[in-house]
Amino acid sequence: MSQYRIAAIPGDGIGKEVIAAGIEVLDALAARNGGFSFEFESFDWGSDYYKKHGVMMPSDGLEKLKPFDAIYFGAVGAPDVPDHVTLWGLRLAICQPFDQYANVRPTRILPGIQSPLRDVGAKDLDWVIVRENSEGEYSGVGGRVHKGLPIEVAQDVSIMTRPGVERIIRFAFKLAQSRPRKLLTVVTKSNAQRHAMVMWDEIAEEIAAEFPDVTWDKMLVDAMTMRMTMKPGTLDTIVATNLHADILSDLAAALAGSLGIAPTANLNPEGTYPSMFEPIHGSAFDITGKGIANPVGTFWTGAMMLDHLGEREAAAQLMRAVEMVTADPALHTPDLGGTSTTRRVTDAVIAAVQGRN
Ligand code: NAI
Ligand code: MG
Repeated sequence: MSQYRIAAIPGDGIGKEVIAAGIEVLDALAARNGGFSFEFESFDWGSDYYKKHGVMMPSDGLEKLKPFDAIYFGAVGAPDVPDHVTLWGLRLAICQPFDQYANVRPTRILPGIQSPLRDVGAKDLDWVIVRENSEGEYSGVGGRVHKGLPIEVAQDVSIMTRPGVERIIRFAFKLAQSRPRKLLTVVTKSNAQRHAMVMWDEIAEEIAAEFPDVTWDKMLVDAMTMRMTMKPGTLDTIVATNLHADILSDLAAALAGSLGIAPTANLNPEGTYPSMFEPIHGSAFDITGKGIANPVGTFWTGAMMLDHLGEREAAAQLMRAVEMVTADPALHTPDLGGTSTTRRVTDAVIAAVQGRN
């Protein structure tokens, strides 16, 4: 029997609530499946840790995480700690050194969920967004001079490397090839950003030659927002830079019904370092402690983690359980217009996993 060691980092706000729910569901699934088990170890890193220690995670944090098979991450962000501190201090502090360069965000409309787009149902919207997750606009290069003076200057420099672009575009083509429609859209902005984005386009052209069976096209990011809302059915796999995909994937999550449902995987595809799985939403201070956070995004990302660990059948089993639960409007949390709670949704998914409903 395989045993997987998972590092749980619930983080802040509703991150704690949804990760607790996710662990319960994954343990129940493992018990039911019988072929594998989990050993979770929880790390209390995040904003509370920061207020005590002045850092979001200890200096040997990465060394601690390295031996794990995967990381199950909640969210970071607190009202009284600046967002760049929390994000760079924990989430990016893990993603970047662990070279989790492929951020994968599936989006589809689950049963029982209503898209805000009129007349758009499950068959019209089934995407995977691949986000470059290691460089580009979020490489952290830049600085500020003359701080606070009238002559102040601030600069954020976007860095794109040929190997960095090649690996993400190749990853996206491979993923597109593995999906039934074999369809890839490469998002760009090479009309206005005439250096790095032009290289991005050229590399897409080059890599495309390796995948003659994949149909692909190129789309400017601004026009892409229109296509996603007006013609969602024309899209399947999508690849975009760090910044572009960050924005487009929030739009995608909203179009699929709620931010609370959307999952993501930060993959180090070579497996040199552990990969990290998280819901895409943040710590949601407005609903923290109310017991109404939607745990579905965390369950779905748990299924992505199972897939990554090679437990394909268990991943599919978990998604079937999640879909049985979303199909029942009585089990919708307030973000989906319902009155259910994290507890009830979690119990229902566990029951479905155990075949009790
Ligand atoms: P958010 O994702 O926390 O919340 C946006 C809205 O969606 C809120 O109204 C919230 O109640 C709702 N929402 C989010 N997840 C939900 C769920 N599971 N169930 C029900 N409703 C849900 O984004 P916001 O408010 O912009 O940021 C709050 C904090 O989270 C900030 O400090 C931000 O930096 C951080 N953040 C962290 C992320 C991460 O750790 N990956 C991602 C996004 C934001
Ligand atoms: Mg985002």
